[in-house]
Amino acid sequence: MFKIGKTKKMSSEKIKKKFLKFFKKKGHKIIPSSSLLPRDATVLFTTAGMQQFTLYLQGEKNSKKDFKTKHLTSCQKCFRTDDIEEVGDDTHHTFFEMLGNWSIGQDSKGKYFKKGAIKYALEFLVDCLEIKKEKLSITIFKGDKGVPKDDTAREIWQKNGILPEKISEFGVKDNFWGPVGKTGPCGPCSEIFYDRGEEFGCKDAKCGPNCPNCNRFVEIWNLVFMEYIKDEEGLYNPLSQKNIDTGIGFERIVSLLQEKKSAYETDLFLPIIKELERISNKTYKENKKIFRILADHIRAIVFLAAEGVFPSNVEQGYILRRLLRRSIRYGKLLGLENGFMVFLTKKVVEIYSDSYPEVKQKELEIIEIIKKEEDKFKKTLEKGLRQFEKISKKGKISDMDAFHLYDTYGFPLELTKELAEEKDITVDEEGFRKAFKKHQEISRAGAEKKFGGVGKNATREATKLHTATHLLHQSLREVLGLRVRQMGSDVTSVRLRFDFSYPEKLTVEQKQEIENMINQKIRDGMKVKKEEMLYRKAIESGALAFFKEKYPERVNVYSILDSSGNVFSKEVCAGPHVNNTEELGHFKILKEKSIAAGIRRIRAILE
Ligand code: SER
Repeated sequence: MFKIGKTKKMSSEKIKKKFLKFFKKKGHKIIPSSSLLPRDATVLFTTAGMQQFTLYLQGEKNSKKDFKTKHLTSCQKCFRTDDIEEVGDDTHHTFFEMLGNWSIGQDSKGKYFKKGAIKYALEFLVDCLEIKKEKLSITIFKGDKGVPKDDTAREIWQKNGILPEKISEFGVKDNFWGPVGKTGPCGPCSEIFYDRGEEFGCKDAKCGPNCPNCNRFVEIWNLVFMEYIKDEEGLYNPLSQKNIDTGIGFERIVSLLQEKKSAYETDLFLPIIKELERISNKTYKENKKIFRILADHIRAIVFLAAEGVFPSNVEQGYILRRLLRRSIRYGKLLGLENGFMVFLTKKVVEIYSDSYPEVKQKELEIIEIIKKEEDKFKKTLEKGLRQFEKISKKGKISDMDAFHLYDTYGFPLELTKELAEEKDITVDEEGFRKAFKKHQEISRAGAEKKFGGVGKNATREATKLHTATHLLHQSLREVLGLRVRQMGSDVTSVRLRFDFSYPEKLTVEQKQEIENMINQKIRDGMKVKKEEMLYRKAIESGALAFFKEKYPERVNVYSILDSSGNVFSKEVCAGPHVNNTEELGHFKILKEKSIAAGIRRIRAILE
């Protein structure tokens, strides 16, 4: 094993605290992790620490005003779907945490940008964690797409004692970061790698950071010099300010400091792995891949469920379902009894109850969600596997067979693909997607209603109901969680109808809470403000929008504000709306029902 220094015995919790404390001492404000479900509805999950600061990084919000400083630090819960298939190897995870520090614009002396970020990073790694400087290798951006080569970063690294031969240059793929969605802040980056030593290498003469053959060089820290913004046309324009956005994959640094090849062998995962050994009577050593997949997925499942995501056939719910069903199948391979995930859930809760009290608070709900899905899937899994065996004899899985497995036995496409891979046969994925889309279109018929206002002939009653629709939409998100998304809406002069994604029947209490919230907002006499702006700006400012393709370049945005100007609801919308919510009267839900898989409809009136 490689030896990293004196820090060997440090627990993950201690490492996290050390990082946050270090930056606090350097004048940064510690900001709590934001939700895994971002407010910006154009992306499904929070995949990076900077996401909650996007408006600040774009210069649209003032960090100094809101946080009293331009320098922030956090440990952020993240979830990435790109790596689901890779989970099981040493380094990939779905749920993970990211440590980061930010400088929103330069400080008053103009110092923080590249100079400050590099200096702090080295100070933390070398002075605070006692990692030897000579074990570090650095990558910088070599220039591309109109963005020049980063000579400044090279110079600063060298001035800080990094030898020129330890600095290598890479292109856009490795050394240009972001944006998170299609548009947004981004920039060239510089990455810090730790060299674990030749014995971990591939012996290729070119072996170095980003080596495609081996994991000798472990990436520990990404420093993004965020000075560009990518627009709708895909162009990189200079940002009005220079920012620093950095990220350390927490699981990575913990494995490094605990001198483990993989995070699965650190205190972040070991209690789960040990519990799996206990309940399966099998060893991690002999079942590494399955143990790792189960340990990874259970963390993701617990955190998604804690945010209020339910297994469903759409969006975040579909991802949760995929993870659950994959885990159930792997559990079966290990010979685990039904309910095994409850044991694992308890371990995850134990590990995180200090850092994320919400997982402890929601423990019973999470267990309920997992159990329900297990009950549902176990009924069809056995039969589906037998069906798969039969079909697989044909030597390939056709579009209709894959769809049949999905529709009748609840096999997510990815599960079918995985089973097919094990047998070395192919799946007609494209055909499946077409069949799936057609199915969705049919089941959505009736739910799908084009976006829009109530039109020029709107009656006064319809206008009021339209404003009530916005209050309803936001209240649903407040009460049921951010996964609620508008799927359609229809307003007449007597009632409103609102379709939204949500997998379960609403309880009487939930309906009451939603009604109460809306009636309170009405009583509060909230102002309704209209602004015209670019669609892109509207989305960036957090306005909700649906059926994106139908919006023109310039749109109207309606915000509902409290007396201090705080936004309760903000939507891209054609209008019209009332000027103040006090005009609405009393809001009442008449009916709530399911209209398609994962889609619910509310009918409501104003009395
Ligand atoms: N946003 C960058 C990343 O995700 C740095 O935090 O790597």
